[in-house]
Amino acid sequence: MVVAKSWTMVKHFDGAPKPEDFKLVENELPALKDGELLLESVFLSVDPYMRPYSRRMMKEGDVMIGSQVARVTESKNREFPVGGYYVAQAGWRTHFISDGKGLQALPSGWPESLPKSLALGAVGMPGLTAYFGLLEICSPKERDVVLVNCAAGAVGSVVGQIAKIKGCKVVGSAGSDDKVAYLKEIGFDEAFNYKTVSSLDEALKKASPEGYDCYFENVGGKFADAALQQMKDFGRISVCGAISMYNDAVPPPGPYIQPYILFKQLRMEGFIVSRWKNRFEEGGKQLLQWVLEGKVKYHEHVTNGFENMPAGFMGMLKGENIGKAIIKV
Ligand SMILES: NC(=O)c1ccc[n+]([C@@H]2O[C@H](COP(=O)([O-])OP(=O)(O)OC[C@H]3O[C@@H](n4cnc5c(N)ncnc54)[C@H](OP(=O)(O)O)[C@@H]3O)[C@@H](O)[C@H]2O)c1
Repeated sequence: MVVAKSWTMVKHFDGAPKPEDFKLVENELPALKDGELLLESVFLSVDPYMRPYSRRMMKEGDVMIGSQVARVTESKNREFPVGGYYVAQAGWRTHFISDGKGLQALPSGWPESLPKSLALGAVGMPGLTAYFGLLEICSPKERDVVLVNCAAGAVGSVVGQIAKIKGCKVVGSAGSDDKVAYLKEIGFDEAFNYKTVSSLDEALKKASPEGYDCYFENVGGKFADAALQQMKDFGRISVCGAISMYNDAVPPPGPYIQPYILFKQLRMEGFIVSRWKNRFEEGGKQLLQWVLEGKVKYHEHVTNGFENMPAGFMGMLKGENIGKAIIKV
């Protein structure tokens, strides 16, 4: 018998998630039936979406939602042999039984030397978010100026590097000097620490006095208020996330944006990456190629131990990560 551990959400988060909101539970898994397989999580992902989606998708006591790279340890399904690695959406669990539905193989051509955890990061959902959200909504052209916030994170770091591949000037903001140094290292033209600049308006103006053609928005709130004012005419804004507002039960009132949108003739569009799920194979193949060519560099912030998963999640929300926040079991 296999004993599976899982993390449940004891009660809905009120503001920032706290240690007491989580509970570790254990349960014995039954023997496999024909067509089933047993998987063991090797890497688990902690992502910002878990904070807002816990409210929309979960009830108190449910296992936390999430994805993992998992290895097949026992199989009664010939399509999924023992030893195979798959990306699954099985939540915060060490082990789980599957009938194979919804399991995704790693993109073809994945070399043994590449960490499989990248299937949760630069070559996984966050990378695809950057790829489709930037290219399909911002349509960046050579010499465009692209602004991205949360720039040192899983999505933002890939957005900036794809924009460089497309010949743009890239400006990024992040919450520490180490993150700013990292952005310079991976090729951002300009980067600043939004927590220490005396004025966001000035920092944005200094980084690009001529304004911005594209804005990949991960943060919302005050940052967005400042950035919108500095868009060029006909600018394109891809609204990917609003992490500064995820802990607010009621969104704080902000300035009204219609005049900026109107007089600068801006286009602003929100998206959820699953919109392009029928093109994930294409995106995954391209991202894998760029990573292997060294055109998209990656960094992972690894928290060791399944028992530390809530700490890894809360740490990511507080900005402890450079690159993708991963839990290694
Ligand atoms: N639309 C979609 O389909 C989709 C898919 C994936 C992700 N997303 C969104 O993309 C954004 C980035 O996600 P990710 O997975 O790449 O996470 P991430 O950037 O790797 O990690 C989250 C980062 O958010 C920053 N942060 C936290 N609180 C903040 C605040 N109040 N103001 C500004 N920054 C704050 C922190 O960096 P600093 O140190 O820089 O503050 C932290 O490291 C999130 O908004 C997420 O919801 C959307």
